[in-house]
Amino acid sequence: MTPADLTAAMAARKAQGQRIAALTAYDYPTARLLDEAGLDVILVGDSLGMVVLGLPNTTEVTLDMIVHHTRAVRRGVQRALLLADLPIHTYDTPEMARASARCLIEAGADAVKLEGGTPAQCEVIRGLVSAGIPVSAHLGMLPQHVIEEGGYRRKGKTPEDADRLLHEALATEAAGASLVVLEIVEKAAAGSITAALRIPTIGIGSGDACDGQILVTHDLTGAFPWFRPPFAKALGDVAGEMQKAAAAYIGAVRR
Ligand code: KIV
Repeated sequence: MTPADLTAAMAARKAQGQRIAALTAYDYPTARLLDEAGLDVILVGDSLGMVVLGLPNTTEVTLDMIVHHTRAVRRGVQRALLLADLPIHTYDTPEMARASARCLIEAGADAVKLEGGTPAQCEVIRGLVSAGIPVSAHLGMLPQHVIEEGGYRRKGKTPEDADRLLHEALATEAAGASLVVLEIVEKAAAGSITAALRIPTIGIGSGDACDGQILVTHDLTGAFPWFRPPFAKALGDVAGEMQKAAAAYIGAVRR
């Protein structure tokens, strides 16, 4: 799909009020289960670092890691849009971004996601789109900057910060992004951005005014019990079920 086709499809969905349900996947069985469940978008997120690889944050995730997991996810996805994250420092320049994004597209991604909406980052988006690579922007809390920021802080709380985010969102749309993830953005600011854009916003911890929602699947399914962000409600208990099955197995083996 070309960037223009994806943008048109996404804008049409938004215009029809069809909300977008998105989750992350990092492996074949999860991707296949989510695709068969009817998810609209599946993201090979760099949250992979924490919930699969046991790293403290996303800053140690490499392009090779995302390529490896995108290949596995691609094998399980037939109908959802497959996004893959460009890891930190793989899109510092438009040339670097094009080379990195091509690896993700060759691994099976339909589009790539990158963090930020500064003029330099919009230049990167423009470069990808002009190379035929569809892009999702990611604004608000930028997990690849968690170390400088000193934590996962809510964005858009002051009128100035809300204005900055709106400006960045409009700039990413003008640069050719087909959708925008808004992470931990104040609900009112997320609502204003959603109203101002033609392309959909996908919120995570940003209230219900967005055009869609995304969560880390491990948070939704209760598969990572050691940490879950306060905005993510677990609707399952995968960790509990796994430990129950393991305990039953241990009992049966040691009987
Ligand atoms: O890496 C990720 O899983 C993400 C989502 C939280 C949006 O970027």
